[in-house]
Amino acid sequence: MYHPAVLKGSAMQNISLFSTHDDNEEPMLESIEIKLILNLVKDLHGYDFTHYSKESIKRILQEITKKRKLAYISDLIPLLLRQPAFLNDFLAKMSITVTKLFRDPEFFASYRQHIIPYLSTFPYIKAWHAGCATGQEVYSHAIMLHEENLLDRALLYGTDFNNKALDTASAGIYSTSELMEAEAFYREAGGQNRLSDYYHSSHNFSKIEDYLKKPITFSHHNLTNDRVFGEMNVIFCRNTLIYFDRKEDFETVDEKNRIFRKKFI
Ligand SMILES: C[S@@+](CC[C@H](N)C(=O)[O-])C[C@H]1O[C@@H](n2cnc3c(N)ncnc32)[C@H](O)[C@@H]1O
Repeated sequence: MYHPAVLKGSAMQNISLFSTHDDNEEPMLESIEIKLILNLVKDLHGYDFTHYSKESIKRILQEITKKRKLAYISDLIPLLLRQPAFLNDFLAKMSITVTKLFRDPEFFASYRQHIIPYLSTFPYIKAWHAGCATGQEVYSHAIMLHEENLLDRALLYGTDFNNKALDTASAGIYSTSELMEAEAFYREAGGQNRLSDYYHSSHNFSKIEDYLKKPITFSHHNLTNDRVFGEMNVIFCRNTLIYFDRKEDFETVDEKNRIFRKKFI
């Protein structure tokens, strides 16, 4: 079978005579290939990406295909079927772990204003950070709860399906330059001290203080397959469940910063 997409110049002109479809069909074929791959990953490996944005999935699959110098997205199928190591590469690409301490400081400022007073009415506070990546969001929350004198009655859970990211999260060790850059975010979020009060540095790396780590449990959890993590007072799923469409169950606390409260019906 010839693959016109990998052929250039005159070879392309000759070979394309044998092609069984024209270029207009390509998007449709690609969409079928993507569906096949997503169903395979779901059925064989138990990871369900079928509800993820088609555009991001397509971009990621195209990138992997190109990097592996393959002609078509469907050329990934044998790798997913027969090469277990490839699954890890695939999952790593599906997991975009970009995060920062006090990322979107206006969100944290709004959280401090609207949610913390409500949380303070509970004897214990349980919070779940679903899709916590390398943990900075959970530590930001712990710092905020500490400043509001609530940390000693809080239990925080950080979950992700990326074990490598979870290892970093559990260690709580980040580059010093990254933490120094977050100082401004911390201030904008209404931070009451200096961010550097919450970590100690050794050369280029810095470790989050142990008292902030103590109430946090990091663990593996796949949002699409695993069961609900437990009864929670608050759930963070920022930049993770962006395709989650269950707004009717929630009332809005802050539309701009996407803070919602579950309706009690
Ligand atoms: C961009 S990070 C968001 C980190 C943090 N919530 C923040 O906003 O700074 C998205 C994280 O969601 C995780 N993720 C994506 N799909 C997931 C799934 N099905 N189950 C668990 N984690 C998932 C990825 O591995 C990644 O670490």
